[in-house]
Amino acid sequence: MSSNDKPGHAFVVVASRLPVDRIEEPDGETTWRPSPGGLVTALEPVMRKAEGVWIGWTGDVGPAPGPFEADGLQLVGMGLSAGQFADFYEGFCNATLWPLYHDVIAPPVFERRWWDAYVEVNRAFARQAAEQAAEGATVWVHDYQLQLVPRLLREQRADVRIGFFNHIPFPGYGIFAQLPWRRQVVEGLLGADLLGFQRRADAANFLQACRGAAGRTVRGSAVRVDGPGGSREVQAAAFPISIDSAALSQVAQRAEVRARAKEIRQALDEPRVVLLGVDRLDYTKGIRHRLQAYGELLDEGRLAPRTVLVQVASPSRERVDAYRVLRDEIELAVSRINGEHAEVGYPPVHYLHQSYPKDELVAYYLAADVMLVTPLRDGMNLVAKEFVACRNDETGTLVLSEFTGAADELTGAFRVNPHDIDGLKDAIVRAATTSPAAARRRMRSMRRRVFEQDVAHWAASFLDRLNRI
Ligand code: G6P
Repeated sequence: MSSNDKPGHAFVVVASRLPVDRIEEPDGETTWRPSPGGLVTALEPVMRKAEGVWIGWTGDVGPAPGPFEADGLQLVGMGLSAGQFADFYEGFCNATLWPLYHDVIAPPVFERRWWDAYVEVNRAFARQAAEQAAEGATVWVHDYQLQLVPRLLREQRADVRIGFFNHIPFPGYGIFAQLPWRRQVVEGLLGADLLGFQRRADAANFLQACRGAAGRTVRGSAVRVDGPGGSREVQAAAFPISIDSAALSQVAQRAEVRARAKEIRQALDEPRVVLLGVDRLDYTKGIRHRLQAYGELLDEGRLAPRTVLVQVASPSRERVDAYRVLRDEIELAVSRINGEHAEVGYPPVHYLHQSYPKDELVAYYLAADVMLVTPLRDGMNLVAKEFVACRNDETGTLVLSEFTGAADELTGAFRVNPHDIDGLKDAIVRAATTSPAAARRRMRSMRRRVFEQDVAHWAASFLDRLNRI
């Protein structure tokens, strides 16, 4: 992948987070536990083959731990100061870009100080990438937190090949244009050779932003960029991300995981139907709409007696205003439904504001009859794919919002517009009462897709395309 004239790594991943979590041992020692994610699974073989390195933030406030090795992977830990945590992470990433890129479901906040912190942190990541990359290396930058890195890196290292993948949606130009720094963001991204997006619509929105915000000429999926070194073409295309389907399916076959799934159903007092939601507690996920639909179905008596909804809502970005408000709203809605419909020993909503290890989540996927995935906007939604990968016996149904990337692929789902509460209610009833044969047909078609196009396929197709440029 590279000639090794400059010492360094032939493959460099730059992502906002490291694929490990810091553990403080009782003796005061710091150890690192792998945080199993699809991205690291997909990139691990490439990393090992090319002696790759992964640059990312540790998730804590404090100085950078710098380069270290964990679980056989070369990692470089970046640090954020308390000010950068507030202005870059909570501010520009999660109160400006996140709501803006998710169709302004919450109003984005534009704060000039936050932009300065975004530039500063992106510069630090780009500097570190320039340091780590060998001559002619391939550098793969990830997600909305690091959109300026491609250009900042190219300015320092014209010899490297740069890919960028946006894990979240890229909004329509009417929305993107609100960003006071829209030109700088587009120019930042155009430092890459290949830009990957979840859906074709996201790539098209980005190309529109190239015309609108930066006055670039766009031909098909290519953007012309003239620079001091001559002119280049930047490609923008869709590469829908996936999961490590085979590994997840194996977890779902393990005896102790299946026993745990049984235990969960028993603990729920052998309900007739288990509806399940698994989300980060985020306003993009449509949890309120789901609760509204469920509450009305209970009011109307349209669900089998002793139906339950289990809602896992893992804590996320808890100090950001919109997330605090959301948590209050969700918890109010849950207690209203339970207050109105519970009997002693039977709360119709089991609300779990907790994070679980993967094996436990798989047990929940197995314990459910109907999975509810109802985001108002979601780049992909890997929970939908995880549920499908776990259902080895081809049972279970999926209610899936059309505003997720996964909806393009999982056509066997009961497709919904989560804003249409009546439509959502009908879909939940249909998903809960469809015949086993029809459910199986739907599940089989979704499983075919999830197993054929897994995360390894995603990484290979992105990197092949990048290396052909
Ligand atoms: C989404 C983003 C990721 C992000 C994750 C968790 O999946 O695409 O880049 O890391 O959410 O958010 P957090 O703010 O905890 O990193």
